[in-house]
Amino acid sequence: MKNILITGGAGYIGSHICIELLNANYNPIIIDNFSNSSEKVIKRIEKITQTKIKFFKCNLGDKKKLIDIIKFFNCEAVLHLSGRKYVNESTNKPLLYYFNNVSETISLLEAMIATSLKKIIFSSSATIYGKPKNLPISENHPLSPENVYGETKLIIENMLKNVFNSDKAWKICILRYFNPVGAHESGLIGDNPQNIPNNIMPYICQVAIGKREKLKIWGNDYDTIDGTGIRDYIHVVDLAKGHIKALEKLQTFDFTEINLGTGRGYSVLQLINSFEKVTRKNINFEFKERRIGDIDINYANPQKAKNLLDWEAQFDIDRMCEDSWRWQIMNPEGLN
Ligand code: WQD
Repeated sequence: MKNILITGGAGYIGSHICIELLNANYNPIIIDNFSNSSEKVIKRIEKITQTKIKFFKCNLGDKKKLIDIIKFFNCEAVLHLSGRKYVNESTNKPLLYYFNNVSETISLLEAMIATSLKKIIFSSSATIYGKPKNLPISENHPLSPENVYGETKLIIENMLKNVFNSDKAWKICILRYFNPVGAHESGLIGDNPQNIPNNIMPYICQVAIGKREKLKIWGNDYDTIDGTGIRDYIHVVDLAKGHIKALEKLQTFDFTEINLGTGRGYSVLQLINSFEKVTRKNINFEFKERRIGDIDINYANPQKAKNLLDWEAQFDIDRMCEDSWRWQIMNPEGLN
């Protein structure tokens, strides 16, 4: 079994990728500082896969430990997912984001160079496109992030491009996620925000379970079909499978960026409608003013992923709602 180092492997997306790594006969070696995830996720991954998981609680700044782990397990590649990921938090705490996301990535890359490990898949975000100039969004769309979180993702992408230019032996794949939602069909792992959810799907689930009184819809005066924001929601399991495809093709890449989205956009009201239909729960909401940093609409052109990875999203919006809800009712208080 090939050992794959996955940073942030206990997180929402990382844990789902670990499941798919094992399904594809790879062995995940998790590095996580559990600042935005729970150690209980490891046991859940083990329960789903009936496999003992290797994990290390450490920061990426601990370069010596990274080098020891990479060497000991003779890691074949790195899936780099760890980092802070909330738009509004990044506006309020920019240095936390520059440190956590950018400088910790530098430490990881230095450890990889020290061990001659030059294969990496990086978790980036559609947020780096900023306000769409055209739709659907292709990978050559201008990059103009409008928040610190998105800016850190762009800085890291540029860093990786320059590392590649300095040494063409690197194999680098940047995956730009649109809006990951949903959960593993077991309901044992899912999106587990530690405070008030920033993202819409966990918030809707908490309204549905009675933990929150109503959903605040940030803006209903956008230039969209019903005035509410449109996003390309993608099932987290589809997203995870996209990483396996990228890992399998990584040796054929030099440096490439690929969007992982469905190519379909849904408004907030359309998402609520699907959720209510699937769960038979009523979602109370109220319209509020726009959230700073939000854009009207974005959705992916998924053609490059289909061409290069032979991958496309399989799950529809109803399945995303169904799986999110199962996770929520099985874990009313999350996994904290
Ligand atoms: C979706 C829509 C909101 C919450 C961010 C990051 C992105 C990725 C996903 C990390 C928007 C509306 C939301 C609420 C609402 N993060 N909304 N009430 O902002 O599109 O993307 O999270 O990988 O990189 O940029 O996601 O779920 O916050 O918002 O009305 O309580 O729901 O205005 O239209 P976003 P989101």
